[in-house]
Amino acid sequence: MALLELRGVAKVYQQGRIAVPALRGIDLEVEAGEFVAIFGPSGSGKTTLLNLIGCLDKPTAGTLVFDGVELIGLDQKGLAKVRRENIGFIFQSYNLIPVLTAYENVEFAIRLLNRHDKRELRERVMEMLAAVGLEGLENRKPNELSGGQKQRVAIARALVKEPKLVLADEPTANLDSKTSEEVLEVMVKMNKELGTTFIFSTHDPRVMEYAARLVEIRDGLISSDRRRDGAVVSH
Ligand SMILES: Nc1ncnc2c1ncn2[C@@H]1O[C@H](COP(=O)(O)OP(=O)(O)O)[C@@H](O)[C@H]1O
Ligand SMILES: [Mg+2]
Repeated sequence: MALLELRGVAKVYQQGRIAVPALRGIDLEVEAGEFVAIFGPSGSGKTTLLNLIGCLDKPTAGTLVFDGVELIGLDQKGLAKVRRENIGFIFQSYNLIPVLTAYENVEFAIRLLNRHDKRELRERVMEMLAAVGLEGLENRKPNELSGGQKQRVAIARALVKEPKLVLADEPTANLDSKTSEEVLEVMVKMNKELGTTFIFSTHDPRVMEYAARLVEIRDGLISSDRRRDGAVVSH
């Protein structure tokens, strides 16, 4: 069974009296452990698609099944639970809490789940910060870190709760090309080491290179879907 299965997913935004169709029937299956890039021009529907997969919004039509659970049937509380426990987010603008240190930003994401005692919690957070290459920078606040370092904190924060899926919406859009590649390398490493499924959006061809599968979206529809080896994924 696929980790994620979308069938006929559509999203129409209502802007006053104008209906804006953002997604027009997306069929997509993603297996556990995949590392997928969603690419397409600005306005093609990437953010909308990631928001639906991430339970941040509901589709106008179609079905989404995540880890065997039909998301359409869940209320806000149910969606929030799926999101909190099983999905990590990485954003273009990092979205770190400015008054918290790197350590505290990561700890915050897992503390509420009550899975660990105090000592375990500390070990886990330190381990995760080291894994993304931030050893020694635990006590810095976001404004004392570079863009690339901030995004590493965000990756650690997304992964510390061991989610099944990490969604990253244009995670390198604010970074220079060298730093972008470093951030992608960290994501690839975590995908390999932890087996976490990653779906990220981008329109940077250099960043796409890192994906094992490339899903192209145009005008709210998938226009191509292929694996790194060139194999076309059928829909
Ligand atoms: N909250 C919203 N209200 C109305 N229209 C929206 C909203 N969010 C996105 N859209 C529209 O939906 C389409 C897809 O947007 P989006 O998913 O943000 O694309 P991308 O992330 O690929 O740039 C665009 O036409 C955009 O203007
Ligand atoms: Mg977007």
